[in-house]
Amino acid sequence: MSKQIQVAIDGPASAGKSTVAKILAKKMGYIYCDTGAMYRVVTFHALENKIDLKNVEELMNALNHLDISFDYVEGVQHVYANGVDVTTDIRMPDVTNHVSEVAAIKEIRHELVNRQKAISASQSIVMDGRDIGTVVLPDADLKIFLVASVKERAERRYKENVSKGIMTSLEVLQKEIEDRDYYDSHRKESPLIQAKDAIKVDTTGLSIEEVVKVIENELKKVI
Ligand code: CDP
Ligand code: CDP
Repeated sequence: MSKQIQVAIDGPASAGKSTVAKILAKKMGYIYCDTGAMYRVVTFHALENKIDLKNVEELMNALNHLDISFDYVEGVQHVYANGVDVTTDIRMPDVTNHVSEVAAIKEIRHELVNRQKAISASQSIVMDGRDIGTVVLPDADLKIFLVASVKERAERRYKENVSKGIMTSLEVLQKEIEDRDYYDSHRKESPLIQAKDAIKVDTTGLSIEEVVKVIENELKKVI
């Protein structure tokens, strides 16, 4: 049996993590885990059920009864909350605006990190998020820290939103990305930081294919 491989991809919002992680996983025949989607599901579920985001006990009670699962339909990732498809709902601006607040809660992180470790326990995996190389998979075979200029990241998100019919101005998106990056990098619990042994890849001006190639080349060195 071939060796089980773990690839950790971290970085700020809209750096291209999930896009390249998904392609890499498919090419390598590994599973893919989008940890940001898990924090988004918890946030969506709490907002839907009018749970006070400051009430940790109520949030945890809800999370303990919340099954989060993924599958792929014609190559597109679908995310489910207790079996209901919430793929589109979790990308809506209201969820985006509150997700960092929920993700800063220690108890929530502890539970989701446990679930993420369990997903990665028996299969080769590409996992993306903010704390994968530092907390979830500290012994990953390859750790990548993806970055890009904030201007380019806002433009990418803008294009993506337009294609989904979400109309938020470029200026608002850039501010939202800057605020979220700041919040994610300065929280007490598992802040967004580059792991010491991660390779930084600046994707400004690079196409998706070019970024995948860079990561594939790094992966070839370790497998
Ligand atoms: O795709 P986008 O960059 O908008 O964000 P995401 O990956 O969907 O993550 C949404 C939020 O979840 C982030 O801004 C973080 O606050 C949180 N998150 C986290 O704290 N730890 C992770 N491993 C993944 C996401
Ligand atoms: O997961 P993360 O928030 O880091 O970013 P993403 O959702 O994978 O990528 C955000 C948007 O940027 C998507 O629409 C990608 O297609 C696009 N992208 C790009 O234009 N060029 C890249 N090198 C990487 C991503």
